[in-house]
Amino acid sequence: MIGIVLAGGSGTRFWPMSRKLRPKQLVSLWDDKPMIAATIDRLAGVSSRDKTFVVLGEHLVDATRAALPGVEFIVEPCPRNTAPAIGLAAVFAQHRFGDEPIGIFPADHAIGRRGVGGLANFERCLKQAEEQAEAGHLVTLGITPTSPETGYGYIHYTESDAPAHPVREFVEKPSRAVAQQYLESGDYVWNSGIFVFKPSVLLAEMKRQLPEMHEAMMEIAAALGTDEEAATIDRCFSKTRGISIDYGVMENAANVVVIPATFHWSDVGHWDAVDVVSEVDPKGNVVEADALLLDVSDSVIYSQKRDRLIAVCGVDDLVVVDTDDALLIIDRKRAQDVKKLVEALKEAG
Ligand code: GDD
Ligand code: MG
Repeated sequence: MIGIVLAGGSGTRFWPMSRKLRPKQLVSLWDDKPMIAATIDRLAGVSSRDKTFVVLGEHLVDATRAALPGVEFIVEPCPRNTAPAIGLAAVFAQHRFGDEPIGIFPADHAIGRRGVGGLANFERCLKQAEEQAEAGHLVTLGITPTSPETGYGYIHYTESDAPAHPVREFVEKPSRAVAQQYLESGDYVWNSGIFVFKPSVLLAEMKRQLPEMHEAMMEIAAALGTDEEAATIDRCFSKTRGISIDYGVMENAANVVVIPATFHWSDVGHWDAVDVVSEVDPKGNVVEADALLLDVSDSVIYSQKRDRLIAVCGVDDLVVVDTDDALLIIDRKRAQDVKKLVEALKEAG
């Protein structure tokens, strides 16, 4: 299949490690490799390197190029969320490779716990997904939910003997009460954010549900490989509506199937989740810093400055993140509120 890595997001929940021009996918959370480089490496057994592309906004090109020498980019002239980004990737892939299935992969997820394991299962699931996509389905990979998360898509499916189950309903980001019902029903899985489909199948759904966006993509398709390519992408992409693939296409798409993922998955959404990718000491601490801890438990201590000692005493559930120009200290239970801090910082100018 063609590997399409989505890397245009501007996550704020890993501040101060992540910034506008250094979003989470460019940060190294547990080794020296940015998450996007780990994502590309993981695809080696799924799509060959000459069929692996990164889709991203113009503003991220330089920083991402430094992390990923030799990978080809598909560049969006302006941020319009994931539906147009995937539409652009679909017409681009179709132009180069005909209607071979494309796999869509978020650049900043962890597969396998602590960065290891899970690869064989990941590859097996994607092989099955590619077969289903060849047969004309829009394929999602589902994750067994463990809590009533409200930041995910929920997929209600009909159990079948085949590896892929027909999807009855796709609900993006339900309320807490609804998520709780879904969790208790046992009939729903989380949408992993990984999709596989033929470009023609995605574009047909786009035509039905987002006709103006489809029209823009068709204009771009007609210009690919001509002198008008760059100008047409600039003009047509900018006028598309900003909407995610989940709300824009998946919620109302026909012919969606789900393959339950057999690999460990985390979108490592905030500082509280780093224990998925980093070592945890016997007291429950994640320490990626030169640190001295006395009576500290369940805390997260990160530092970009390895030549500075961080000494912590007598606390539980604390997050401390030290970078060159900012220091974060937050209650671990409120790790999601880093987003609020960043908003307050923006307001303060
Ligand atoms: N190229 C490009 N352009 N990439 C983008 C853009 C864009 O405008 N916006 C977001 N992305 C990338 C992000 O970097 C991320 O890798 C991926 O697309 C998904 O975007 P998010 O913004 O992180 O989506 P989400 O977390 O709210 O929800 C999605 O992921 C969940 C799983 O983590 C949905 O697919 C949910 O249904 C799903 O459960
Ligand atoms: Mg996300």
